[in-house]
Amino acid sequence: MSAKTLIKNRASLSHKVRYAINHPDRIAPYLKRTARDGWLRLKHPDHIAYYRAVMASDAGRSPEAAVGSRSHERWLALGEMQFGYLKEHGLRPEMRMLDIGCGNLRAGWRFIGYLDSGNYYGIDISPDILVSAKKTLVTYELQDKLPHLTVTQDLTFDFLPDAHFDVVHAHSVFSHSPLSVIDQGLRHVGRILAPGGFFDFTFDRTEGAEHQVLREDFYYRTETLLALARKHGLEARFMEDWETRPHGQSKIRVTNPA
Ligand SMILES: C[S@@+](CC[C@H](N)C(=O)[O-])C[C@H]1O[C@@H](n2cnc3c(N)ncnc32)[C@H](O)[C@@H]1O
Repeated sequence: MSAKTLIKNRASLSHKVRYAINHPDRIAPYLKRTARDGWLRLKHPDHIAYYRAVMASDAGRSPEAAVGSRSHERWLALGEMQFGYLKEHGLRPEMRMLDIGCGNLRAGWRFIGYLDSGNYYGIDISPDILVSAKKTLVTYELQDKLPHLTVTQDLTFDFLPDAHFDVVHAHSVFSHSPLSVIDQGLRHVGRILAPGGFFDFTFDRTEGAEHQVLREDFYYRTETLLALARKHGLEARFMEDWETRPHGQSKIRVTNPA
């Protein structure tokens, strides 16, 4: 990511004006999105209910676009990027994995195919995207792998056992989350991590002022998230090797102290 991109404040008026001048074709879609944002905020003051409604609206049009992929090729590539990274970082078939915000299994179908039966657990706040996730399972004929796919309301993980997961993963989820949601996830994830396990999450990074675009996209400074994890007694580090991937977000890894 360029230094200029990293200090950009997408919520500022000057950025919006510049962007509109350079991308006149995106003005109408942006205005439509802003109108939807205003309406959904009114209807759903709670963030999870709001974002669930965003997903219902987006997934109704295209599940692949709803998880952030402009084309099927991008959908495949983004899944491969997540899978390849974790394999390089020691993912093995016998490991147990929790995929937070699993979406329509863009990466999940690869994890499910690779892991031993029953070892993949996907959770998401959106029932609509989980319906699409099941279609992905059928497409890739992964029924025998018996993955768990469950709708969730929060990130307390209260229905999951202690010290269970070798890998907890949240790709492009905290980029859509206010700090209170991230705080809740980091407060509780240590309990469900197996000894030696880790939690990887991506985030939209800024090195300027933290900001958000509508209530959909949130930009955080790395040190904010590292400090939050440490506040909950976890170790946390910025994953430099993820930066070489053609992806707009950065990654942090969190572990229980040895
Ligand atoms: C951009 S999509 C990414 C999906 C998947 N991780 C992937 O990379 O294909 C974000 C997903 O996270 C889900 N989500 C957003 N906030 C969440 C939360 N607090 N807890 C669980 N899922 C959440 C959304 O419903 C959506 O399916």
